[in-house]
Amino acid sequence: MGKKHIVTSALLYANGPIHIGHIAGAYFPADIYVRFLRLNNEDVAFICGSDEHGAAITLQAKKLGLTPKEIIDKYHNQNKKTFAEFGIDFSIYHRTSEKIHHETAKEFFTSLEKNNLFEVKTTEQYFDDSINQFLADRYIEGECPKCGYQHAYGDQCEKCGSALSPNELINPKSTISGNKPVLKKTKHWYLPMAKHEKWLAKWIDEGVINDSKYHDTKTWKTQVLGQCKSWINSGLKSRAITRDLEWGVKVPLENSEGKVLYVWFDAPIGYISATKAWAKLNNKKWEDYWKSRDTELVHFIGKDNIVFHCIIFPIILRLKKNYILPKNVPANEFLNLEGNKLSTSKNWAIWLHEYLIDFKDQQDSLRYALCASAPENKDTDFTWKEFQARNNNELVSILGNFVNRVVVLTNKYWGGEVPVVDITNEYDEQILSILKKSPTKIAKSIKKFRFREALTEMMNLARIGNKYLADCEPWKVIKSDEKRAKTILNISLQITASLSIVSEPFLPFTSKKLKDILNLTKLKWTDAGVK
Ligand code: 2FM
Ligand code: ZN
Repeated sequence: MGKKHIVTSALLYANGPIHIGHIAGAYFPADIYVRFLRLNNEDVAFICGSDEHGAAITLQAKKLGLTPKEIIDKYHNQNKKTFAEFGIDFSIYHRTSEKIHHETAKEFFTSLEKNNLFEVKTTEQYFDDSINQFLADRYIEGECPKCGYQHAYGDQCEKCGSALSPNELINPKSTISGNKPVLKKTKHWYLPMAKHEKWLAKWIDEGVINDSKYHDTKTWKTQVLGQCKSWINSGLKSRAITRDLEWGVKVPLENSEGKVLYVWFDAPIGYISATKAWAKLNNKKWEDYWKSRDTELVHFIGKDNIVFHCIIFPIILRLKKNYILPKNVPANEFLNLEGNKLSTSKNWAIWLHEYLIDFKDQQDSLRYALCASAPENKDTDFTWKEFQARNNNELVSILGNFVNRVVVLTNKYWGGEVPVVDITNEYDEQILSILKKSPTKIAKSIKKFRFREALTEMMNLARIGNKYLADCEPWKVIKSDEKRAKTILNISLQITASLSIVSEPFLPFTSKKLKDILNLTKLKWTDAGVK
């Protein structure tokens, strides 16, 4: 069996539209990586979809007087369309409400439960008498014991990022009724995470499990490793993987009415159920992707999802046996907007579907700006001023200008035919050598998930092309030496052809236009930089 890739982007909560923070964090980078792999003829399943469960969705539905299904149907379809409009080319955009997902998640739970891999505990949890409901996660808020923020949720403080349990909140109250909740006994299933600390620590530190090498830790981002180590070093506590809620994947056991799987138990399994659905449609075997050591699994996520993808999901996969673990989780930091945190509830965001109304057909301008200042290693800020500068001073002035000059000159002097090379001089050879090395350099950065660096390398090639044209002035040379002018244009066209290939991961729309102008089809990455 040949090498394969599963590339996942975080399943998006289907309770709102997509904004630039989402896309900069987990979707554009993944699309760049996948496009690069596909250009190299690699076998890739690029998995994404809607995460339809969880308290955020049910609360939103309640607020709007709708059912969860009404909300998720609307946003699932809208978001699927938006991703496609921005050229994000998933193999499948699945949903966690699909039957195959419920079956898969239940099967994971049942198999772990049968093997006694969970702890079952009856504890006292907060209950809202007025609505007759336990208050899981976002149904309860109070003061954060760590930072004093007044509106921390039962599972997490959004201010300081601490993971919390409802019982830690100071002055808790129900987010539905505002009432002070009472404590009531309830039974839940827990993942005993402490039992897995040892192998996880070795896997994170050295990429090794049972003396077998899984990945090279040096290729992981330091902030991802740092977060994982800090979780492990502070001791992993058992996590409840069931909830007292109506909405979600039902706990597949008798006498467990009113209980569903915790959204963070079922959502990552959604990657597997989506792969099953995709494999069925494409006549493939899903196991070849999830159960073969020849497959490289990479999760693209934002930093708030690290613990789920690097600790909890790997534990679940390992307990289920025979599944591969991620080769890398190149999580991004956060993108802010004009100095402030993006916020759906405060409507502080640039919504992608609205962007396209103001900037029709300008997907690549946004793709470019977001990749150029992607939050790869630290939080970054999106400003309209920078967006304008990136577009005007880089995309248009460097790439657009170069390509345009080459095409205009070819049409004007040679009627659109590629002029042949005569004798090359030292400068030409220098340019040809840079051209030859450029795709490898870009590829190296992409393989290390350093997409900003890769984009800069790609633009450097256009910069070099511009300088070459400006230095050689073929429009003047043609008056005295047509052969020399032809050579210059041939080399410039070679640079343009390479750019049409190496720009594809970042700027698929521009790349397509370029290939159409140059009449090039079905090019592979390795065609770039080659005569
Ligand atoms: O944080 C989020 O937006 C989650 N919906 C991500 C889920 S990722 C995966 F596990 F499905
Ligand atoms: Zn806090």
